[in-house]
Amino acid sequence: MSAKARKYRTRVLEMSHRFIPGGVSSINRMVSPSIPFDRGEGAYIWDSNGKKYIDFHAAFAPYLLGHNNEDVNNAVIKIIGDKKSLFGSGPTDIEGELASLLCNEVESLEKVTFLNTGSEATALAIKISRAVTYRDHFIVVQGGYNGNSDELACNVFNSLEEIGPRVSPGEYPIRPLGVGTVIERQRFVHVVNFNDLESIRYVCKRYPVAAVITEPVLQNIGVVLPKEGYLKGLRALADELGFLLILDEVKTGFRQGLGGYASIAEVVPDLVTYGKAVANGYPIAMLGGKAKYMDQIAAEDPKKRPLVAGTYNGHPVGVAAALATVTLLKECGAEIYDHLEKLGQLAEQGIMEVLSAKGIPAVIARQGSAFSFYLMDHCPTDFHDLVLHHEFHRDVEFRRKLIEEGVYFVPVATKQCSISAAHREQDIESMIDKFKKCIS
Ligand SMILES: Cc1ncc(COP(=O)(O)O)c(C=O)c1O
Repeated sequence: MSAKARKYRTRVLEMSHRFIPGGVSSINRMVSPSIPFDRGEGAYIWDSNGKKYIDFHAAFAPYLLGHNNEDVNNAVIKIIGDKKSLFGSGPTDIEGELASLLCNEVESLEKVTFLNTGSEATALAIKISRAVTYRDHFIVVQGGYNGNSDELACNVFNSLEEIGPRVSPGEYPIRPLGVGTVIERQRFVHVVNFNDLESIRYVCKRYPVAAVITEPVLQNIGVVLPKEGYLKGLRALADELGFLLILDEVKTGFRQGLGGYASIAEVVPDLVTYGKAVANGYPIAMLGGKAKYMDQIAAEDPKKRPLVAGTYNGHPVGVAAALATVTLLKECGAEIYDHLEKLGQLAEQGIMEVLSAKGIPAVIARQGSAFSFYLMDHCPTDFHDLVLHHEFHRDVEFRRKLIEEGVYFVPVATKQCSISAAHREQDIESMIDKFKKCIS
């Protein structure tokens, strides 16, 4: 590293550590090695020393089209040039246009509202479910992440000492992701296994459940796929027992098709949340779903309205970015998703060949362009399966070696990798080569 680069890097790290608690603005970014990145373009990112990495982290998945996609950036530049500002009064033309595009293209959406983060969207979904069912309890899944709001932020990664052995039917103790939350409110939250309909029924027999919220594919502990019939089973239970089915598609949404994973599973949720890929890295998120539930937001009686308020909701920069992204996916979707699937297959096949040639009992779990490797002999079906079998420490060590080789897998065990439309076959081949060199 040159003296100039070392000086710059030290200054970046020093300033962040001195003035930002923990040195990062989101706890998930607190990783080792802590590399200050400088630039991103397409499938690549560069650190402050000018070292280039093939990026498979994609900043926790939004960059479906790659970093700094030209069409999306140009749409943002244009909107600023057109003096589209934030007026804070009445509707704007482009948010209506985006809502109309989305509701026409995405089967799960009859109506939609725009927010800034996935966490706001999931929290609002819970409020609506309570408002329309007059019930207070809801169910989440162990190993799922549904944002940082008080009640939802719990039980992603836990030790077995914290939550106990696998139970079915049954539920796990709540383990909040941070302190400062109100303990009394946690009695409304119930945590069950993914892929376990019996436990949903078990909780619903005991409590008035307003909603089940789940990622359709658990993508915060890698890629844990729903078993055949699980999501349809959730839909049937929601209809039978009267709770709302909320699919959290913040991570899965738009990655494999405009309809999200809901359309792959052929399930129509009551409410659905999106974020990340919808604007290819620009900050916007949304909650949508059936009009009869979404309209609760504007109920005639103000006492029945869940509060939706946000200075920056529907900000023209995010809306323009989402309009450009969704338009591109609508017009070129067949080509883009085909490319992503081909690269996903290439990565899966190449890595499996390396693993079997080396005799390493490990597997790849993949959903389109999202994949994760597990150092265990089968793909996990729920959190307990993962925690009992995966080698977490070895996983992180391996990722650190890949990073040294210029392939960026975020150095956190099981975290999924995302391929973007900007990746090319040679990027995947190069990643497989480094994988072969580093895995042991
Ligand atoms: C499935 C899921 N839901 C919700 C969220 C929260 O989104 P945000 O970080 O934009 O608040 C995330 C973030 O990673 C997520 O993966």
